[in-house]
Amino acid sequence: MNNRPTVLVTGGAGFIGSHTCLELLEHDHDVVVIDNHSNSSPGALDRVRKLAGRPLPAYEVDIRDRDALGEVFAAHRIDAVIHFAAKKAVGESMQIPLSYYDTNVGGTATLLRVMQAHDVQQLVFSSSCSIYGEAEQLPLDEQSPANPTNPYARSKWICEQMMADACTRYPDLGIIALRYFNPVGAHPSGELGEDPSGVPNNLMPYMAQVAVGRLDEVAVFGADYPTPDGTCIRDYIHVVDVADGHRLAVEHLGDETGMRVLNLGTGVGVSVLELVTAFSAASGTPLPHRIAGRRPGDVAELVADPSRVEQAWGWRTTRDLTAMCADAWRFQQLNPAGYGG
Ligand code: NAD
Ligand code: WQD
Repeated sequence: MNNRPTVLVTGGAGFIGSHTCLELLEHDHDVVVIDNHSNSSPGALDRVRKLAGRPLPAYEVDIRDRDALGEVFAAHRIDAVIHFAAKKAVGESMQIPLSYYDTNVGGTATLLRVMQAHDVQQLVFSSSCSIYGEAEQLPLDEQSPANPTNPYARSKWICEQMMADACTRYPDLGIIALRYFNPVGAHPSGELGEDPSGVPNNLMPYMAQVAVGRLDEVAVFGADYPTPDGTCIRDYIHVVDVADGHRLAVEHLGDETGMRVLNLGTGVGVSVLELVTAFSAASGTPLPHRIAGRRPGDVAELVADPSRVEQAWGWRTTRDLTAMCADAWRFQQLNPAGYGG
């Protein structure tokens, strides 16, 4: 037996989850994973075990399966939970909205019930900048109004509200919702990264697959936005910084009870064309790209005001755009077909 805190990570085999498991193991936490692998490979967890040199128990469990989840809580003394398990594709959420509410909202309610049954009071939740929708004012701080514009974003907003209600009713609960902006990049070892199934929806993995020859060219979705170069601006944040933010959140869960909401972003806006240029520099070859029409639902600009998390924990991101591109490229080069390759 040891006195290390044990963190249950739901969705721990996914892009952000796998990096967070490694970060926790490297900082002397014990970690238990549940994942149904609907959007991930168990191979990601083998890589985490290898990099950390430590055991990582994992269970193939659906977050909506209350009995199976309860068995995991019964088998381990869980101190805190990080809840990543969710469906996350905005476009798909408009096609199958009920499935999104079932997994994202229903799964989160099930998790909270099981935590309650096992007297686990501490939770870090994956929220999203997408709950802000079209920004009225930039940068976006946590007081900015929520205006989710699709079922995925609404599911995250509903979860935040459900958690605030739970914290009001159960004063021992402590929940931190982290609203991340655009997580990209990969672990610098090249062992962990983003391995989306099918054709990537997101810009960074799409660029990486063009660079490695799996896709022909990048379509830049719109060059007529009211931004300096006409392309959309986002706040890209290195996934290792996101993982580091989760580890710190776990370590600060005991500071106070109730619900806290924090942005995780850099505060720096980068346009699509700037990202294409940065990735071309990282890969050493100009990335083939063409200007295409706007993608429905995109907004011109989303940039975080990350000052609340800095004031709370003295934490800020440390990895820049060059590192984000270099690390994403390294993972893609070393794993041209992803974890399955
Ligand atoms: P991901 O798809 O790589 O990881 C999610 C993991 O959850 C996957 O391993 C998947 O298999 C698992 N999962 C899905 N449904 C499940 C279910 N019913 N039961 C058990 N496991 C299930 O996604 P990610 O990018 O790592 O995102 C992690 C979390 O962060 C998600 O909640 C997502 O909504 C949120 N988020 C992501 C981004 C982003 O741009 N990547 C931005 C903001 C918020
Ligand atoms: C970035 C920019 C596109 C692909 C998404 C979710 C959001 C959050 C973060 C989960 C946009 C442009 C993209 C391409 C392009 N995730 N683009 N060509 O849409 O900002 O945010 O991830 O919570 O909810 O919506 O990220 O990477 O899809 O797009 O020009 O092939 O790249 O128009 O401006 P997005 P993205």
